[in-house]
Amino acid sequence: MKRFLFTPLHPPVTAPIYSGTDIIDKLATPRFFKPFSAVYAVVDERVNEFYSNGLLKQTLDGVSVYVFPRGERHKSLARLQRLLNWLWENEADRDSLLLGIGGGVVTDITGFAASCYMRGVAYVAVPTTLLAQVDAAVGGKTAVNLHNTKNVIGNFHAPQMVICDSRFLSSLHMEQIKQGLVEAIKVFAASDRRLFEKHVPNLQSLIGRQDLHLLIADAINAKLVIVNADPYEKGLRRVLNFGHTTGHAVEAIAGWSHGKSIAFGMLVASFLSQRHSSLPQNEGSRIWSAITALYDRFDAAALDAELLWDKIKHDKKRSGEQINFVLLLRCGTHQIVPINYAQFKRSVAETRERISR
Ligand SMILES: NC(=O)c1ccc[n+]([C@@H]2O[C@H](COP(=O)([O-])OP(=O)(O)OC[C@H]3O[C@@H](n4cnc5c(N)ncnc54)[C@H](O)[C@@H]3O)[C@@H](O)[C@H]2O)c1
Repeated sequence: MKRFLFTPLHPPVTAPIYSGTDIIDKLATPRFFKPFSAVYAVVDERVNEFYSNGLLKQTLDGVSVYVFPRGERHKSLARLQRLLNWLWENEADRDSLLLGIGGGVVTDITGFAASCYMRGVAYVAVPTTLLAQVDAAVGGKTAVNLHNTKNVIGNFHAPQMVICDSRFLSSLHMEQIKQGLVEAIKVFAASDRRLFEKHVPNLQSLIGRQDLHLLIADAINAKLVIVNADPYEKGLRRVLNFGHTTGHAVEAIAGWSHGKSIAFGMLVASFLSQRHSSLPQNEGSRIWSAITALYDRFDAAALDAELLWDKIKHDKKRSGEQINFVLLLRCGTHQIVPINYAQFKRSVAETRERISR
């Protein structure tokens, strides 16, 4: 028997993320595009309506454009295939550049297309929702959904550059701003106490978009600390699931918006943290205040703990009695704690009870 080793040199990836206002025309320039054989832009339908003749005019000049239909249901294998067909029919080659311009749906699926078309082509993300600027486009994860389960198929593909131009956020609905804020609070609550304390008192002005650019830069920074230490989600990166274990189940079962579902998931996780981690009650209250400053009404009476638990077990492919939850020791520090159904049920009941007061 002979043994050989495949030991490719894997150079570290450096993918700059730019955040600011008035930056897209300075970064997505003809000079930047020049080394590529051609540029292909996948542009969210709404973003195309709002910005193709304005903010995106220079960027899209001379670029092939695929207008991507809005909605999570299009983050699918079927749509991926259509996207890949479009690239092929338009003669994209391995020196092409793909631009993903839109919310997390577009950045996730375009990143995935870039990672697999011709075994990988260059990719630049231009996130246009707050959620995508603070979360989805940061960290190199790409994905499409399979059946009713999110992000089952995907990989890691570092973009050449991410451009977070806050001017795109002016056309978002309030609900979309809240969804992004929930993800920012999540990363601060679970990993950075200083940033939690800095931003949480200003949530009302953030909802009004006044200081959003400050929050975006801090949220990117906080997420990068985590993903740079654990780029392939072997450990630390799981902290970003804070509130998401329950939240994803709520989203699937109750059909609430992603942001509201994750917000509820964080409330449940904060009750769990008080009982099964060492989160002091006053810190649980601070998380409660932050979340309820964004969402003050949850119609949670119909949320059944058993249904939620079954969905969580299904999504995590777990048949055992316990599920690992990200819980807080204090705001800014976390641990992973196995939780059983009785413990989960009690925290869901506590959350529902407090909400209804
Ligand atoms: N890759 C990751 O690490 C990661 C992390 C978090 C979330 N995600 C994914 O991100 C997705 C959610 O992202 P999202 O909330 O941005 O959703 P989205 O992409 O569906 O965008 C939400 C809506 O906003 C519209 N839109 C986008 N930009 C706009 C703008 N500037 N003005 C007006 N409307 C605009 C879209 O048409 C859509 O209707 C999910 O699929 C989730 O799984 C990925």
